[in-house]
Amino acid sequence: MSHNTIALNQQSQPLDHLDSVWLFGYGSLIYKADFPFIQRRPARIHGWVRRFWQGSHDHRGTPEQPGRVATLIADPDAVCAGMAYEVTPDVFAHLDHREKNGYLRFFTEFEWLDGSGSVEGLVYVAGPDNEAFLGQAHETDIAAHIAASAGPSGPNDEYLLKLADALRELGEHDEHVFAIEHALKQLS
Ligand code: SIN
Repeated sequence: MSHNTIALNQQSQPLDHLDSVWLFGYGSLIYKADFPFIQRRPARIHGWVRRFWQGSHDHRGTPEQPGRVATLIADPDAVCAGMAYEVTPDVFAHLDHREKNGYLRFFTEFEWLDGSGSVEGLVYVAGPDNEAFLGQAHETDIAAHIAASAGPSGPNDEYLLKLADALRELGEHDEHVFAIEHALKQLS
């Protein structure tokens, strides 16, 4: 599958008939909301775990030297906390462009972190079959890779460190992210 997913997302899932759409963010979408939104609420989804297994050619790396960014990996026992945004459908033109390096969006249910209910919304996931997928590695190796990478959106370590801070603000303990953060801080 091509790693540019813009056309795939727009063709397989038109949204224009909807008044608003919820989006669940678990990576940079938690801390970098560079789009207009109606409201945002902390949320979680079941059956997925956050992993720095996706290559970034266009934001935190280059095609020659991809960085490492977050995707979700299916895991029936896992719960992943993040931030949900209610947006108008036109915002997906920007989001599809931002997430074009291998991420496909699909509808799933997410629960509010405060326990007050749930909603159906979209999440972008870069699956193992996309060309930019890098896959599993030890957290210390991921940290070294991140420390050496940068792209048009800035240094790769900024992505990781901002995400770790945002997860702490949500009260979320993500062992994978915090282990990479710890290893990264040992390197500097
Ligand atoms: C997300 O944050 O939900 C997707 C991955 C990213 O843009 O970092």
